[in-house]
Amino acid sequence: MLLKNGKIFYNGKFANLDIEIDDETGKILKIDRIDEISAGNKGGKILNLSKKVIIPGAIDAHVHFRDFEQAYKEDFLSGSRAAVNGGITRVFEMPNSKPRADCLHIISGKIKKNPDIVNMHFYGSVSDEDFENNAKQIEKFIIAYKFYMYEDKNFDVLEKLNKKISFHAELSNSDNCIRNEVNAIKNLTKISDKFKFTPHICHISTNESLKIAKEKNFTIEVTPHHLLLDKSNDIRFNVRPPLRDERERMKLVRNLNAIDVIASDHAPHSEKEKENGANGFSGVETMLPLMLNLVNKGVLTLEQLIEKICINPAKIFGMNNEIGLNEKANLTVIDLKKEWKIKGDNFYSKSKFTPFEGWNVKGKVSHVVVNGKLVMEDEVLNL
Ligand code: DOR
Ligand code: ZN
Ligand code: ZN
Repeated sequence: MLLKNGKIFYNGKFANLDIEIDDETGKILKIDRIDEISAGNKGGKILNLSKKVIIPGAIDAHVHFRDFEQAYKEDFLSGSRAAVNGGITRVFEMPNSKPRADCLHIISGKIKKNPDIVNMHFYGSVSDEDFENNAKQIEKFIIAYKFYMYEDKNFDVLEKLNKKISFHAELSNSDNCIRNEVNAIKNLTKISDKFKFTPHICHISTNESLKIAKEKNFTIEVTPHHLLLDKSNDIRFNVRPPLRDERERMKLVRNLNAIDVIASDHAPHSEKEKENGANGFSGVETMLPLMLNLVNKGVLTLEQLIEKICINPAKIFGMNNEIGLNEKANLTVIDLKKEWKIKGDNFYSKSKFTPFEGWNVKGKVSHVVVNGKLVMEDEVLNL
């Protein structure tokens, strides 16, 4: 396959270069100005991507794809298709599934069930009491451990882990006060000093915790909803950590530079559960467009966005995701100028509720390549 006439993000900057992909291996063969005839002779597909921007495949470092006992909310197939529709080529899947991903049996069940549509990596939970026999055994099969500070209270186990540990930093799952997050981060500064590790903080929601975490060089993740939405009386907007008021939110936006990763916290629920106030909502299909819209508004540059959704999430969790020769082709192609309206009914996720319903955004994903395979072409899924 040959991707022609696009502007690609290569070696840290944009360049007008073509990309040739080996259809057999899915690897990038050539990055250059490539003659159509010579590539065409090999019989592969040729895409004209003029006026499009090709970035390293976007990563959503925080999704709940559920499945198993909660397949009515989402399963790995619907979640993976939703990811592609959102321009995402790689996801990190959270362990608070039912059953919880805290032992080898459950993790291998997840690995087996992966439909392999996007690159899917699984988080492991540290919750199990029989720690040595369970949580520790899964270490080489998971991307990282996830620790929910409002319910996982055995901090001593953290010393024994040899893998990145990500934290849901709230001491209670119902307290909407800013202190609930700030105090969790303060506790973490002590724990990380004691056990000498660098935590990754999920979905930060307050500027004070951001400052404390940054001083300790923790890596920090934020969601589009904590950047874009104020707290609301609509219980369908319920989410943990909660949405804050406009002043607090704008402080996060102003300090976006200090944040390493933007991830969706895609947390699907049934319609009925949402009406009853379940925490979280679909996000994997809206994250990239919402952030492209911010690029168009001048809130951040496209380079900064690429850092936060393509480069840093890979780096922090020990992978390389840059476009390069001999690397698997994971690419997201965007049309920065396209204007459109977000509609939950068009989601591939089973969960159609979005707090961004009806938002007009500028910037859309047009093509997605996962491991050399064209899974979206001209905005249409090829699955
Ligand atoms: O809003 C949330 N929903 N926050 C979480 O931490 C968990 C998530 C879920 O799994 O539904
Ligand atoms: Zn969380
Ligand atoms: Zn989450």
